Amino acid sequence: MSAMSVDDIDTPAPVVDLDRVERNLKRAADYFHEKKIALRPHIKTHKIVEFSRRQVELGAVGITCQKLGEAEVMADGGISDILMTFPIVGEPKLKRLMALAKRIRMSAVTDSTEVADAMARAASEAGVRIELLVECDTGTGRCGVQSADEAVALAERIANTRGVSFGGLMVYPEKGKVARTRAWIAEALAALKRSGLEAKTVSVGGTPDMYHAHELEFSTEHRPGTYIYSDRAITAAGVGTLDDTALRVVATVVSRPAEDRAIIDAGSKTLTSDLLGFPDHGVILEYPKARIVRLNEEHGIVNLAESPEKPRIGERVTIVPNHACVVSNLFDSVYGVSDGRVVREIPVAARGLVR
Ligand SMILES: Cc1ncc(COP(=O)(O)O)c(C=O)c1O
Repeated sequence: MSAMSVDDIDTPAPVVDLDRVERNLKRAADYFHEKKIALRPHIKTHKIVEFSRRQVELGAVGITCQKLGEAEVMADGGISDILMTFPIVGEPKLKRLMALAKRIRMSAVTDSTEVADAMARAASEAGVRIELLVECDTGTGRCGVQSADEAVALAERIANTRGVSFGGLMVYPEKGKVARTRAWIAEALAALKRSGLEAKTVSVGGTPDMYHAHELEFSTEHRPGTYIYSDRAITAAGVGTLDDTALRVVATVVSRPAEDRAIIDAGSKTLTSDLLGFPDHGVILEYPKARIVRLNEEHGIVNLAESPEKPRIGERVTIVPNHACVVSNLFDSVYGVSDGRVVREIPVAARGLVR
């Protein structure tokens, strides 16, 4: 394996530049350390045990998971503090959460009394106590209580229920809306205070605004995920450049059926159909004016009309995906490279774990 160069890897393949990973991790670790904000990376981006461990080694207080399967893999890999930021609903999942809580520190989020009460009952039965953060919808339009009053009501209920404790607030904020997030959470914190409740933790998330985290003066922890790899969307949001993108897909040109068209062996089974707001499916670094306009499962259809240079059949291209996390989820392993050499094949141990 050590003698292998990136050119020897069969395609399509995800290649992760370990030097860029380290650089991206250190930059974030230094920033959060300096700002005295705890770092709790979301591991859905890489789903790799050794990267979670490295994040903790560099100072992360723990990790964030959205899926219990991911949390189980990471707990087996030695991670000892996990926040679940997805509502845990139903007996099978509650049982698994409690089994984890007997082994490591587990905390979770809720935006409803249904989830809070079921969690409290399951925790009491299991003889554990789960810290719950109240999830707030400050504009993302996903989960979350809709007002400061709702946040207080739910926090009071949690604080007065056996098996759970009120830990604070959690938000996955709207990208680029730092001021709006700030106003919403500040109002909720003031309302909690008037009710005699303390939010020890205010957990904020996302890579796009991570280097503005200090502007939310109440923020106690941040949960960036994509920062480890970065991707086209993150660089478009103004965090780093394409040179910082650590996960890339190497593909081969397999057909040139027309002057203005190339077909690559990376279709939706590799790049996913997640456009993330872009009109095409990633940046081809060697041919920046070529556009991956369509994906079938195995075929990537590339429009070369505006590309002065055109690739030939058999040529390999390097693609920065729009969204790195979804690509990770499609591969059992990634190739870890350093200085153009393949250093090791790294298992994506928590990939595909949708429950
Ligand atoms: C709840 C939550 N926190 C944190 C993150 C990490 O966001 P990003 O990938 O932008 O860093 C996500 C991403 O989906 C999320 O859903």
